[in-house]
Amino acid sequence: MGRLIIISNRLPFSLDKEGDKVNLRQSSGGLVSAIKSYFENASAQRPEITGKMWVGVADFPQEDWDQLVAAKAAEQDFGILPVFVDKELYDNYYNGFSNSVLWPLFHYFNSLANYESQFFDAYVQVNQLFAEKLIPLLEPDDQVWIHDYQLMILPHLLRAKKPDATIGFFLHIPFPSYEIFRLLPTEWKKILLQGVMGADLIGFHTYDYVQHFLHSVKMLLGVDSYFHNLQYQDRLVRIDLFPIGIDYNKFHQTVADPEVEELRNNIQANFGDKKIIFSVDRLDYTKGLMHRLSGFEYFLDRYPEWKEKMVFILNIVPSRDTIPAYNERKRMIEEKIGTLNGRFSTIAWQPVIYRYTHLSFKELIALYQAADVALITPLRDGMNLVAKEYVASSLGKGVLILSELAGAASELSEAILVNPTDTSDVASSITRALAMPLYEQRNRISLMQRRIQEYDVFKWVNDFIDQLAQVKQEQQKQK
Ligand code: UDP
Ligand code: G6P
Repeated sequence: MGRLIIISNRLPFSLDKEGDKVNLRQSSGGLVSAIKSYFENASAQRPEITGKMWVGVADFPQEDWDQLVAAKAAEQDFGILPVFVDKELYDNYYNGFSNSVLWPLFHYFNSLANYESQFFDAYVQVNQLFAEKLIPLLEPDDQVWIHDYQLMILPHLLRAKKPDATIGFFLHIPFPSYEIFRLLPTEWKKILLQGVMGADLIGFHTYDYVQHFLHSVKMLLGVDSYFHNLQYQDRLVRIDLFPIGIDYNKFHQTVADPEVEELRNNIQANFGDKKIIFSVDRLDYTKGLMHRLSGFEYFLDRYPEWKEKMVFILNIVPSRDTIPAYNERKRMIEEKIGTLNGRFSTIAWQPVIYRYTHLSFKELIALYQAADVALITPLRDGMNLVAKEYVASSLGKGVLILSELAGAASELSEAILVNPTDTSDVASSITRALAMPLYEQRNRISLMQRRIQEYDVFKWVNDFIDQLAQVKQEQQKQK
């Protein structure tokens, strides 16, 4: 095996500039968390990988790369190849087609999709920029692994110039049912599907997403599948299910980290014997934050016995804040928190503690461990790694309330599963979680821990790479 080349829109870090201080901050989101963990341990996992490279769009100008970032990036034990994209083009590709068409549509928020043709044109152009950057660099035994909805055309563009290349594609968000996917203009949806079909192996988080994709391929490209295999333009293409995992040990081992322990103790000391409910999400309408707050409000109304006996720490991570649908949501959420705190606070107590910030790894873990209840209720989520991280970080106690509409729900069946739109269900789940006996908490957590430990991020990547190699071998046999 040669080099492993990861390609995603997002690089693993963003540049934080504060006056003279320059810092590289890990980018938020499940994709970066997962791949970065793998990359940091790849040599131990697969010594046969001869090099590791991550290609993504630079969210800083070329001169910052030359003067500030390149040297810091060189400290990582994998190569970074930034793709520089002109600001207006990037805006139409990222804020436009990626996050105002594909993201809302694939998460079933079709009323938020804005089908502007300049968005699609920019999307094609940026995918082409990636292809132009990569094609001269590719070597025959490279394993190219393209990630997520921002780069759906790239597999085809690479295949056109490198017919024998080994190319995998993984979608980190839901693939919607055909009834939703078909809402895209005809030409666009065909280009997107043909684009992804340039890969040899195409992975999704759940069985449903695989089925939806196969259905769209049949309806729009007229290609039938046979046990997840397709014969497309005389090439075998496999579509399969790979539920993403986390670096279980990295989270679990923090149990013994003195810095995390101190942070955790400080949080707990702050709230005395009050129970802590916690949630952390990027600011995104898919995360169900408004519904969550309504469920929490219903809980406060319906179960007044919990007044002054618990707090809800709601942490929101800034995300895509130049897109109106995100901006408006922030205002609505903050208004709702204001109203809710105004209604229920006493002189000595405020029910919602709201923070709009990025958290450091240790702070995040300390919050996971201090929390008696994690309330994770997206309206739609490809997987949701926060749910898995909460379970992995647990010291043995804690209750996970999880939306049944998150991909993670199919693996975390010992969580209290809720429908996020059902406010009374959310409210009664909160009271049930707060009152759950310790032995039951331990029991549920340890069953979930065992499962996510078994299929961790290393197994996820290794499985994908093994299957990719298998598909290549089968293609050879067909020749
Ligand atoms: N996370 C982060 N910064 C924060 C808080 C969380 O990078 O301030 C991480 C978190 O540890 C998790 C990821 O962001 O790995 C969120 O992944 P998830 O799948 O839950 O949702 P996504 O943001 O990808 O939609
Ligand atoms: C989700 C997407 C990723 C994306 C992340 C953060 O996890 O699947 O592709 O990187 O959100 O969003 P952002 O737009 O900041 O990259």
